[in-house]
Amino acid sequence: MKIVKVDLDKNSYNIFIGGDLKSEIKNFAANEKFSKKAMLITDSNIEKIFADQIVSLLESAGLNVKIFVVPAGETSKSLSQAEKIYTAAIEYGLDRKSAIFALGGGVVGDLAGFIAATYLRGLPFVQIPTSLLAQVDSSVGGKVAVNHQLGKNLIGAFYQPKAVFIDLNFLKTLPEREIKSGLGEIVKYGVISDKNFFDYLNDNADKILTLDHSIMEKIISRSCEIKANVVSHDEKESGLRRILNFGHTMAHSIEEASGYSRYTHGEAVAVGMIGAAFISRELKMIGDEEFKRLENLINKLKMISHVENCDVDHMFKSIFRDKKTINGKISWVLMKSIGEVSINSNVPDEIVKEAFDYIVK
Ligand SMILES: NC(=O)c1ccc[n+]([C@@H]2O[C@H](COP(=O)([O-])OP(=O)(O)OC[C@H]3O[C@@H](n4cnc5c(N)ncnc54)[C@H](O)[C@@H]3O)[C@@H](O)[C@H]2O)c1
Ligand SMILES: [Zn+2]
Repeated sequence: MKIVKVDLDKNSYNIFIGGDLKSEIKNFAANEKFSKKAMLITDSNIEKIFADQIVSLLESAGLNVKIFVVPAGETSKSLSQAEKIYTAAIEYGLDRKSAIFALGGGVVGDLAGFIAATYLRGLPFVQIPTSLLAQVDSSVGGKVAVNHQLGKNLIGAFYQPKAVFIDLNFLKTLPEREIKSGLGEIVKYGVISDKNFFDYLNDNADKILTLDHSIMEKIISRSCEIKANVVSHDEKESGLRRILNFGHTMAHSIEEASGYSRYTHGEAVAVGMIGAAFISRELKMIGDEEFKRLENLINKLKMISHVENCDVDHMFKSIFRDKKTINGKISWVLMKSIGEVSINSNVPDEIVKEAFDYIVK
């Protein structure tokens, strides 16, 4: 087992990563002095597979757990779903020291975190992420949110969990496409801050695809370390944290242009990273060799490297509506090398359009 600390003064917490975290979860739940009544939020897929075992674990630590199941899928990240959960929390009698456990992917984590941040102005929150994307990204860093009809993640908060428990066994039932989705973010960490990690992914691509236990433990913990390090320097995204957005400007436009359904977030990120690398190469920030190395790794990990049937003009316009665009200026996260990125707000439109032409086949 590995432990990664997220260093945020009073809000610091540990991420536990391993193949069997039952005793860690039980000890934590028993020792934190939570109120007896707790709530576990999960989705309709995960409920069937893992909810019973986690609920009995928490009950063996002395908690009385009310389970709340939301329909699987992005549409559950909504204010109307949140309202149903508030009602259940009030009726059940959760108090300020009651813990909210999120058992699921990023949808459940973001929604449960939003409830934990707002119900009674905040109660303790614990993440038990079950998707690879949630394990390496959404469960770490304290961004919680629900979607609005007019855009994703528009209503939310920065709210840190008390702990994160990443059990590798969850990955065994995760559909292959969801694994690839998480791999997109893992590759991103290599590009933005660690060339050795990037090389490690390249050298171990075959084993990663078979979910080799010790390799997965290594790459998940390194990803969490990199994200934790960025977040502890810039919890509320005033500067450094923006580098986590590498590949995401174009990813968001891909997700929008394809109605948030054809491509997973991680697939869109993989393609968006190629777009950002293309721009970096056009601006002579990197050479062709580095561009190709990124493209090769994405292919080696059997992720998609382009998208189909997306309208380039529409996508180009949509990047100006991204919530990270300020005063019409897009902060592009671009590569200086593999392992280092920088922010550039002056990329000529022509180059952006060429990059879109490259990633849309
Ligand atoms: N808060 C953040 O910093 C942050 C960062 C990245 C993404 N996100 C958010 O995360 C969400 C995407 O997360 P996601 O990709 O985990 O999506 P998700 O939560 O919808 O999970 C994907 C699918 O996999 C299923 N699933 C999850 N774990 C499983 C398991 N172990 N076995 C079988 N099925 C399993 C789910 O039921 C779902 O159908 C988006 O809403 C995105 O905005 C948040
Ligand atoms: Zn992402």
